[in-house]
Amino acid sequence: MTPASAAPRRVAIHVCGSVAAYKACAVITALRKQGCEVRVAMTRSARHFVTETTLQSLSGHPVARTIWQGGDAGHGMGHIDIGAWAQTHAVVAASANLMARLAHGFADDAVTAALLATRARLIVAPAMESAMWEHPATQANVATLRSRGVSFVGPVRGRLASGAEGDGRMAEVDDVVAAVLSSLGDAAPT
Ligand SMILES: Cc1cc2nc3c(=O)[nH]c(=O)nc-3n(C[C@H](O)[C@H](O)[C@H](O)COP(=O)(O)O)c2cc1C
Repeated sequence: MTPASAAPRRVAIHVCGSVAAYKACAVITALRKQGCEVRVAMTRSARHFVTETTLQSLSGHPVARTIWQGGDAGHGMGHIDIGAWAQTHAVVAASANLMARLAHGFADDAVTAALLATRARLIVAPAMESAMWEHPATQANVATLRSRGVSFVGPVRGRLASGAEGDGRMAEVDDVVAAVLSSLGDAAPT
């Protein structure tokens, strides 16, 4: 736990259009219990899977949904706020599409703009069907991101959203939380 006198660690959680997006809620709650301040950005597709209201309630902050929001740093440049603010970023759950956009340096929504406008650590927790995960395009994008220092947690083998067994299931929430805390220099939660 963070000592009461220490400044809270600043973590940004980025949510994508994956069935596992709802697991971001548990990650946010666990990180806040560990004394982290959490801000959230979501893609347009993520809104089909989890609501902004839920993410706002759990994080205690407005959710970044678009680069056209003003932001709250007072400079009118909302698209770079979260990128500059966070000590660690985590994409939970990362879609194949989002990883492709990150690999190519896109910055056309709240998530990709924040992740391009940062020098902070980035942890990616992918979740998708096996065919998407194993596709050479996805694997090439993963390799590109790894070569830039991005850390991956999972995916693991197990039951997928479709009901099939295979690779592509999101890592356990505890493992994602442990990776974030570790990146901040903390021990894993007990
Ligand atoms: C019902 C449904 C479930 C989906 N589940 C996933 C998923 O688990 N992982 C994934 O990578 N894409 C999934 N997709 C596709 C993405 O939502 C789609 O590629 C979208 O453009 C991703 O946008 P984003 O990366 O901006 O969030 C799903 C689509 C639908 C309609």
